[in-house]
Amino acid sequence: MCNGKTFYITTPIYYVNDIPHIGHAYTTIACDTISRYKRMKGYDVHFLTGTDEHGQKIQTSAEAKGKTPQELVDEIHQNFKHLWEVLNISNDDFIRTTEPRHIKVVQAMFKKLMDQGDIYKGTYTGYYCIPCETYVPESSMGENKTCPECGRPLTIMEEESYFFRASKYVPELIKFYEANLKAVMPRIRYNEIMSFLKGGVKDQSVSRTSIKWGIPVPGDEKHVIYVWFDALINYASAIGYLDDPENFNHWWPYVHHMVGKDIIRFHCVIWHLMLLALGLSLPVSVIAHGWWTRDGDKMSKSKGNVVDPFKVVSEYGLDPFRYFLLREVPFGNDGDFSELALIGRINSDLANDLGNLLNRTLQMIKNYRNGVVPECKDSSSELSTMAANILDRVDSFMNNFAFNEALKAVWEFISRANKFIDETMPWKLAKESDSSSQEKLNFVLLNLYEALRLSALLIAPVMPDTAKRIWSQLGLEGEPVKFLYDSFKWGEGTGKIINKAEILFSRIDIKEWQKSQEAKKMSEQELNSGSESEAKPVIEHEAEISIDDFKTVEMRVAKITKCEEIPRSKKLYKLEVDLGYETRTVCSGIKAFFTPEELEGRVIILVTNLKPVKLCGVESNGMILAASVKKDGVSEQLTLLEPADKNIPLGSRVS
Ligand code: MSP
Repeated sequence: MCNGKTFYITTPIYYVNDIPHIGHAYTTIACDTISRYKRMKGYDVHFLTGTDEHGQKIQTSAEAKGKTPQELVDEIHQNFKHLWEVLNISNDDFIRTTEPRHIKVVQAMFKKLMDQGDIYKGTYTGYYCIPCETYVPESSMGENKTCPECGRPLTIMEEESYFFRASKYVPELIKFYEANLKAVMPRIRYNEIMSFLKGGVKDQSVSRTSIKWGIPVPGDEKHVIYVWFDALINYASAIGYLDDPENFNHWWPYVHHMVGKDIIRFHCVIWHLMLLALGLSLPVSVIAHGWWTRDGDKMSKSKGNVVDPFKVVSEYGLDPFRYFLLREVPFGNDGDFSELALIGRINSDLANDLGNLLNRTLQMIKNYRNGVVPECKDSSSELSTMAANILDRVDSFMNNFAFNEALKAVWEFISRANKFIDETMPWKLAKESDSSSQEKLNFVLLNLYEALRLSALLIAPVMPDTAKRIWSQLGLEGEPVKFLYDSFKWGEGTGKIINKAEILFSRIDIKEWQKSQEAKKMSEQELNSGSESEAKPVIEHEAEISIDDFKTVEMRVAKITKCEEIPRSKKLYKLEVDLGYETRTVCSGIKAFFTPEELEGRVIILVTNLKPVKLCGVESNGMILAASVKKDGVSEQLTLLEPADKNIPLGSRVS
């Protein structure tokens, strides 16, 4: 039974046809943080994540790879499991929608709704793309009713389908939301859901005959259950809806679903209507977060700007990444990821504020008190007063999933502790031999030690590993994540023997970093232009892209009007190219294949919408297209792409 301290938190289950990216990492890290926090508050926590493995996209992608859908999902779901290990995620369960424990619950719920007349047979009419074998919702159609994937015209299709009587439960759901203002957070999303509901909800088609890869409708196997109906049920199947009612009733309905803002209708409307029809209580809350962009741009595979969490962690460390994601933007808002912003946080918040507080304090305890935390009669101070209410402040922020506010409050405390050092000047007290100065020094050192002990606990849900490192340098046993906040008492650190101070975070020199970025870009550009160090002469196919992705690359006919050497580069030429409507400078790694005379006057194809990049001090505004042949890692031959008809006007678009 629930003791008022039961907390069940879920991430969306992720589609396995995508590689894990920052968006997936974000929700999962946020859920991990709240789980760890609640555990430290003494809650009984269950944290669920998993993968969404059915549907047309998986079927198509498996066919393209010559695999069965089952083989494909067995392989790809591992990427997510692996990422969660790398990100130190403390989930209690991982559900896959292809597992028998899930399939049987989906079928049982479908049957129950069918038996009670809330699922009925009808005809589904929609826009269908015959080559892609998929229905396209009106919201994602291209211009003139074309397929967003392949650009071909859509056909109106009709097929037999089962429908969920969603409309019947709408008034009850509106009433629920009117009484539970925090059932959708933040408020902007609550309002969005309310106005959507008030506009009316149609009965929902919940089966398909056009798709094979899905859970069969019980008793009518030519239909498979629609992937969203199937996926949403994971939140119930994972905790034993059918087989383990005791466990199910332990966690349900103390559930909070964390999702991105794009999928709230499924969670706050469809799922809730399904639950009402099934006679189950509704979740405590659905918390919707915003979307991440990169350097101000929408992320997409075609732009090659998707933030890869594996890469960020290997370059900057795990805890800085976790901290950045939760500190940088108010939860619920959109955020922008940039390496410079991440470095800013590492240098100022982590290395400077937190790192320095730890280092200075440990050095002083070592130098002035032989490494033993001193005793003092009364350790109450401005810091202890702040400590007393910080736990409450953090708690109220965490209960509202306001991670950035909670971290801001913790950093105010850390800054106050740093200021306390400057104000009390322990190095001066250490020089005075009178007992009152020595007593004051004890008071200062104990206060600083306690501030660090509490800070380690407060950051533990976000940065578990860093908290552990601080804990061990403070000479404390066990793990901070196992500590209960409510048992913290100021002053209990007396007598602890500290360990050696070690650097927590190294500062990153921004100038050096910028230089290394330029060098990296230059070598990438040179590789792309066919340098000698290219890997192997194997044909490697890139991931499939849609016609819309392809259309984002702008290529135009241009003429090379000037070619110059770049003194610092063995491989690059600086070219001036004429696009008819403007002239640009482009750096190209084709020096090994042509003399300047061979290039000047050539009509070529230029990619015109690449982000400008500085190479050897020259800004390059595009990329010349060339084909090359490489053998044993060496480019043997390179030819420029040229239009067959040289009279085509400069600036003409290639498509
Ligand atoms: N499979 C469904 C969810 C079913 S839950 C019953 C799904 N999967 S997903 O893999 O496409 O998306 C999962 C989550 O990633 C969504 O919450 C989505 O909002 C989030 N993100 C995808 N791109 C994102 C960003 N660029 N930024 C932040 N989150 C984003 O939808």
